Amino acid sequence: MELIDGNKIAAAIIAELKAQVAALPGRKPCIALVRVGEDPASVSYVKKKELACAEIGIASQLLFPPVTISADELFALVDKLNADPDVDGILVQSPLPKHLNEVAVFRRIAAHKDVDGFHTLNLGKLAQEDDTGFVACTPAGIMELLQRSGVKLAGKHVVMLGRSLIVGKPAALLALQRKPWANATVTVCHSQTANLPSITCQADVLIAAIGKAEFVTADMVKPGAVVIDVGVNRVPDLTKKSGYRLTGDVHFSTVAPLCSKITPVPGGVGPMTVAMLMQNTLKARRQSLIQVGNK
Ligand code: GUN
Repeated sequence: MELIDGNKIAAAIIAELKAQVAALPGRKPCIALVRVGEDPASVSYVKKKELACAEIGIASQLLFPPVTISADELFALVDKLNADPDVDGILVQSPLPKHLNEVAVFRRIAAHKDVDGFHTLNLGKLAQEDDTGFVACTPAGIMELLQRSGVKLAGKHVVMLGRSLIVGKPAALLALQRKPWANATVTVCHSQTANLPSITCQADVLIAAIGKAEFVTADMVKPGAVVIDVGVNRVPDLTKKSGYRLTGDVHFSTVAPLCSKITPVPGGVGPMTVAMLMQNTLKARRQSLIQVGNK
């Protein structure tokens, strides 16, 4: 079994991006990071994004409106950022509080600043294999991890566990693409799938993104499979100072010995999401410099 080291691979990408940003003409790329409220996981994720920006030389604008912000106020904030020529990318951290319609907010972001890749136009471009769009960061990070770990998907059976807008759907579309590093046969499973283990056991590559701690057990994995664990779950652990520990959607200690390769949590997919966000922000800046893709 080989551990896929997301920290190491993300660090290599960040070093590449740093050099590319330094070589850009004009001002630095700039991303607006919007976090509504103080959800502890979101606080930690946005902080990681801010630190990555600083490391690479990308400017970040931090906007932390209160949890009580109305839909209209949040739309107005997004509109202002859309109109700001100094902002290349806009990220509104998910999840939003229940009174806000997340998809409506994602759609409000100008497509050419949608570095998260959740806008209708960018999801459509992904489906059409039009590379001028932005691809959601976690799925893009998974593909990059697989490529840089020497996992070839062509002709393989990829089983995607989860159908979210943020991970499952775009990851399935990416693995399906007619690209040399993709060309997989893809099955998407979810909470309503019958006989789940009989399907996951057929996976050459199993991607778990269902948000249930340690859901994938050894009986659900084919020996020799590659397992990508996208889950980040906080489970109570009184032996820890924080009172919790982080664990993935995979029961790591029993599944890992079966796998040819597996990602750990933390230190697998997570750092790649941040690296891909930085890559998308650089892409947004490049596109604004050459004034294309702004439709
Ligand atoms: N919450 C979890 N992952 C993501 C992501 O990639 N982007 C945003 N905006 N929110 C998230």
